Amino acid sequence: MAEADSTEAKNFHSDVPMRSESFFLKGSNNLDWGMKNRLSQIFDSRSGRTVMLAFDHGYFMGPTSGLERVDLNIVPLTAYADTLMLTRGILRTSIPPTYRGGIVLRASGGPSILKELSAEEIAISIDDAVRLNAAAMAVQVFIGGEHETRSIHNMTRLVDLGNRHGIATLGVTAVGREMVRDAKYMRLASRICAELGASYVKTYYVDEDFETVTSSCPVPIVIAGGKKLPEREALELAHNAVQQGAAGVDMGRNIFQASHPAAMIQAVRGVVHENLKPKDAYDLFQTLQHEGERKAAAR
Ligand code: 5RP
Repeated sequence: MAEADSTEAKNFHSDVPMRSESFFLKGSNNLDWGMKNRLSQIFDSRSGRTVMLAFDHGYFMGPTSGLERVDLNIVPLTAYADTLMLTRGILRTSIPPTYRGGIVLRASGGPSILKELSAEEIAISIDDAVRLNAAAMAVQVFIGGEHETRSIHNMTRLVDLGNRHGIATLGVTAVGREMVRDAKYMRLASRICAELGASYVKTYYVDEDFETVTSSCPVPIVIAGGKKLPEREALELAHNAVQQGAAGVDMGRNIFQASHPAAMIQAVRGVVHENLKPKDAYDLFQTLQHEGERKAAAR
């Protein structure tokens, strides 16, 4: 029979106060453990930032350039991403379940590029998001758009459902063609998402006063990459955004449409997690690109 525990043999460290650390992510300290754990699957706690690889474009654009074959074009890049942003269809069909980073599921949809985009609705049930082990659900919010209120309601529904299960919500500010892409608009759209419960917000970088967008938003902001730019310019964009308070990037076309996507995503990581200057990141991109070309030629 086991002997009764003897307190003499134990050390309770009674003189050491128990650690009580605040959570590393802006605006997230009062969230529950499960939600914080999921946000830690998205954001790296060492840098406080994330490189999200976005390839959900097919949900309204179909097989756009670079996404014709996700299994061939994207799966090799997933090793360099902190998080994947994608639809449940692509997750189930094309991403190995052994992937260990965060999953941000596209959770709104409906209209294609042929229609009025702001007419989106919620496009997934919370049960399926739980089943797919989502860390967050991403929903498009069209501030100033024709269906502004509907899109906001989509987001607040997802916030409520996500909070029930500890799944974060990413509010994606979708800027309609008729909107001016400036700091004033981004401040308005980001702040509305945060006030109405988004765990973090995706917006576009703007050249002037972007730091006012990040500072007036009480949750982290990540930037979308937008249309394909020359690689050096895309690295500058990411650098400017993180230096002005963005908690990382949610980048798609500027990675998967780059001349060498694996080199590009690694250079973006350097900018986001190691504060590499654009020139150094571009040098890294070129070095990795040449290495890749040499290896391919040797095969
Ligand atoms: C589509 C999205 C995309 O994920 C987002 O725009 C990021 O991709 P890109 O860097 O190509 O703009 O939200 O609605």
